[in-house]
Amino acid sequence: MRIAVFGATGPTGRQLTDQALAGGHEVVAVVRRPGALPARAGLTVAVADATDPAAVDAAIGGTDAVLSALGARFAKAAVTTYSASATAITGAMERHGVERLLAVSSSVADPAWRPTGAHFFNHVLDPLVNRRLGRTLHEDMRRMETVIRRTDLAWTLVRPSGLFDHPRVTDYHTAETSADGVFTARADLAASMLRELEERRYVRTAMGVVTTAARPNIAKLIWTEGVKKR
Ligand SMILES: NC(=O)c1ccc[n+]([C@@H]2O[C@H](COP(=O)([O-])OP(=O)(O)OC[C@H]3O[C@@H](n4cnc5c(N)ncnc54)[C@H](OP(=O)(O)O)[C@@H]3O)[C@@H](O)[C@H]2O)c1
Repeated sequence: MRIAVFGATGPTGRQLTDQALAGGHEVVAVVRRPGALPARAGLTVAVADATDPAAVDAAIGGTDAVLSALGARFAKAAVTTYSASATAITGAMERHGVERLLAVSSSVADPAWRPTGAHFFNHVLDPLVNRRLGRTLHEDMRRMETVIRRTDLAWTLVRPSGLFDHPRVTDYHTAETSADGVFTARADLAASMLRELEERRYVRTAMGVVTTAARPNIAKLIWTEGVKKR
């Protein structure tokens, strides 16, 4: 397949690109910073801001499927990256007759998501980090989900829990709507998306994905996700 990957310079997007190429796919990495990705066999780089409909249209032409790992930072002000890019991407897909879309959202988009046995997370971290500091970001993620749900495309909303880096794909778990777990390794998130691309078990619904076979180092996680990236 020839797959457009949005957010290909981000940590999940890099996993998606690497795993897709290793799996024999061609990848069109859609990036806003030319030169950010080294050239490789099977990889084409298209330069586009994901919220620019004309640039996105040009990038999507000739592809068979679109995977999005786009992301934005926490902000006090309204976030629009998710909904604006979803509008641009789905519009271009409809025009080009590309029907398969997998877009990364979050477990937080499921209002009923409360991982089992995670008392401190459910009662302290989730309300503080996701619902307060990440409020405007998650509001826009929900708008993105609405934009995508309203299309006739063969979409899958992919909902990971707290992301961390792990060197290998593990025996991850997926479930409809959201999955029961606090963490998702980016390698597993990418692997689950590429598997779902082939298997089509979660078409026109949400797929939760969590990692249970490995856990992040919490101090390292706070540093990489909470301090370094913000
Ligand atoms: N962190 C968590 O615990 C967690 C939990 C659940 C879900 N998620 C979601 O999972 C997704 C992936 O997260 P991640 O941490 O792996 O990646 P990330 O650091 O959020 O990467 C974001 C990617 O999106 C690109 N991007 C942002 N705005 C763009 C625009 N207007 N046009 C083109 N590209 C744009 C960035 O490009 P540049 O390199 O040019 O900036 C980068 O490649 C995000 O949506 C995140 O919110 C995260």
